[in-house]
Amino acid sequence: MAELKRIGILTGGGDSSGINACIRAIVRRAVQENIEIIGFRDGWRGPIEDDAVSLTLDSVSGILPQGGTILGTSRTNPFRKVQKDGKTVWEPTEKVERILNTLAKRKIDALIPIGGDDTLGVAWRLYEGYKVKVVGIPQTIDNDVAGTDYCLGFHSALAVVTEALDRLHTTAQSHHRVFIVEVMGRDSGWIALLGGIAGGGDVILVPEEPFSVDEVLRGVEARLARGRTFSIIVVAEGARPLELGGKPVAQEGRVDAFGHVQLGGVGYWLADRLRERGMECRVVVLGHLQRGGIATPFDRLLATRFGAAAVEFALRGKFGVMVGLRGHDIVAVPLSEALPQSPKPVDPVFLELARAIGVR
Ligand code: F6P
Repeated sequence: MAELKRIGILTGGGDSSGINACIRAIVRRAVQENIEIIGFRDGWRGPIEDDAVSLTLDSVSGILPQGGTILGTSRTNPFRKVQKDGKTVWEPTEKVERILNTLAKRKIDALIPIGGDDTLGVAWRLYEGYKVKVVGIPQTIDNDVAGTDYCLGFHSALAVVTEALDRLHTTAQSHHRVFIVEVMGRDSGWIALLGGIAGGGDVILVPEEPFSVDEVLRGVEARLARGRTFSIIVVAEGARPLELGGKPVAQEGRVDAFGHVQLGGVGYWLADRLRERGMECRVVVLGHLQRGGIATPFDRLLATRFGAAAVEFALRGKFGVMVGLRGHDIVAVPLSEALPQSPKPVDPVFLELARAIGVR
C-alpha cells in the first residue's frame, strides 16, 4: 500500500444525481486511512486557479441524497484541440502548468476526477504526459464512457425519463395525441432507448441509427390502424434525420471548450415535418430535468462503490485507470483502454429488444 496523505477530487462536465453520494464515499473511505481530501471547485477550473476546500466528515454529512455536486462543475479544458496532419491532437495550454503547480503546492498525492469522457480525457493526458497520479470515476447521464457497464447518474436520469413517459401516456391517451419527447444523449441513445423501453415509448430514435420522417409516420400509422389513437415518440437530442443528411439538429455557433456543438431541437424539427404531413403532435423537451433531483438507490450504491474503490486503487498505486462496473464487479479500467472507445454506443442488445417488442 502506497503512503497517501492527500487526495484531490474534482467534478467536471455535465452533472447528474449521485455525484454527492460519490464524494461522500470518497471522504468516508479516505478518513479510515487518515487521508485528507481536497475538493477542487468547478472541475478543472479548481486546480487551474487553486480554488479548493478541505472536505471532512462534516462537509459530506447529509449530502447522500442530494443532486448536483457540492463542488460545482464546469467544462473548463486545460488543453486545446488542434488538427495536425489530418488528426485531432490536444495541445497543452498554460493552464496545464498551473494545474501541476497547484498539485505540487498542495502536496496532492493522487487526483480523483469525476466526470464523462471530456473530464476523464484531461485526466488521461495529465497522467500520460505529466505523470499526474489519477484514478477517474465515470459519471454522465449519457452512459457513454466505455469500459464500464454503467456510468454514475445514468440510472437516475432513466428514472426521470420513465416517470415523464408514464405521465405523458395518460394525457396522450385522453387526447388521442402524438407526443414527441426529446431526451439527452448527444452521441449515443442510452437514455432514449432504455428510458423509452422502460416508459413504453412507441417509436424510439437514437443517434446510432439515422431515421427518416416516413419511418416515424409509418410507426404511428401502424398503431392507428390497430386502434391505438395515441403514440409516444422518444427522440435523443443527437438523433440524425436522413432528411438532414444524417446529421443531428445543432444550435449553430454554440461550441463548448471541448469542441462540442450544442445540440437540441430535433423534437421540434420532427414535429414540423409531421405537421406538414397532416399529423398533429405536441413536443416535450425534458432537458436538464434529467440531470437533477435525488439519486436512485442504484446510483447511490454505484456512487458508494465507485468512490470507495477509487480510494482503494489509489492506495494500491493503480493509476491511469478509472473505476468501472462489469457485471457485479468493480474493476480498474486503464483510461488508455476506455477513452479511445468512448463515446460508447448503445448496446445492440437493447436495439434488438425494442425491435422484438415491435418498437421502431
Ligand atoms: O451531460 C451530458 C449532456 O447531458 C449531453 O447529453 C448534453 O448534450 C449536454 O450534457 C448538455 O449540457 P449543458 O447544457 O450543461 O452544456
